[in-house]
Amino acid sequence: MVELLSAFGSTPESVEALKRVTEGLPPDPTLNFRKARNGRYCLDLDSREIHRTEFQPFVLSVEEDFVRHDSGKLRHFAEINNQTQYNPTFRALLIFKALLVEGTEILHRPGLDLRHEQVRSPRSFTTRTTTSKEMKGEPALEGVHGDGVDHTMTVFLGAKNMTEESAVTRIHDMREVNAKQWYEIDPNLMIDRMQHTNFLDTILIVDHERKHSVSTIEARDPEQSARRDMMVFFTRKVALPDHVSFEYDSVVPHTSWRWPLICRTCVSERAVSTLSFGVYEVNGARVVSTQFRRVTPPLIKSGCL
Ligand SMILES: [Fe+2]
Repeated sequence: MVELLSAFGSTPESVEALKRVTEGLPPDPTLNFRKARNGRYCLDLDSREIHRTEFQPFVLSVEEDFVRHDSGKLRHFAEINNQTQYNPTFRALLIFKALLVEGTEILHRPGLDLRHEQVRSPRSFTTRTTTSKEMKGEPALEGVHGDGVDHTMTVFLGAKNMTEESAVTRIHDMREVNAKQWYEIDPNLMIDRMQHTNFLDTILIVDHERKHSVSTIEARDPEQSARRDMMVFFTRKVALPDHVSFEYDSVVPHTSWRWPLICRTCVSERAVSTLSFGVYEVNGARVVSTQFRRVTPPLIKSGCL
């Protein structure tokens, strides 16, 4: 991933700096074991631009396969900060995801505007989930779930004092019942099991084709707290008027964070020159293969990244 992201402006310094963006995160609005920030971005694949969009609260509903005590409630996260926003590796992850999901055929969730084929409205989270003597850290308290999006991309930043069985991701058939906990799931409906173990390990899920769940964070040394740091990138098409997120799905640029992240020329040249993706099926699961060719020098125009 480090080499791949370097094609999109990531630098060795920013790779190291990304490991520190979870330090000092503010509390999550509804979960006491999690700290988080959240930023909204519009990936406009027609104009080949990414821009940050105005601050709005966040909501996920039961109808979107998210069953939890705060389903349907507006959640006001702290906004993503400069330390993350201007990190070239963070930006490279946005570009990487935009290119990865562009043009892939997926089952679409209801309530989304398919007319704007190339516009996606993502959210990016930085999170730290902690287990201590007082509380259990749950990467997915909601059990088996979907994220109400088209694609969920999870990126591992780091962990401390976790047992090996902590934070294992399971991928489930859509027939699995929402909110089932780790020990309740139907093994016949479990498609895969995977785990982030190394920095920048990344999982991409087609969210309306597969559900997922994540196991509890357990402390290796129970006398010490354990933690897991992640970045999560949600993307989907823009919500229609009947959708629970319609009022909170603006693509209006953020007043103080407006900038073109990448220009048409840069991204198209980079896309052609550095990456090609193939999508194929293995045992019913969709697998993405990538071919990477390093570009020297990188095709980055000044002022773009
Ligand atoms: Fe999720």
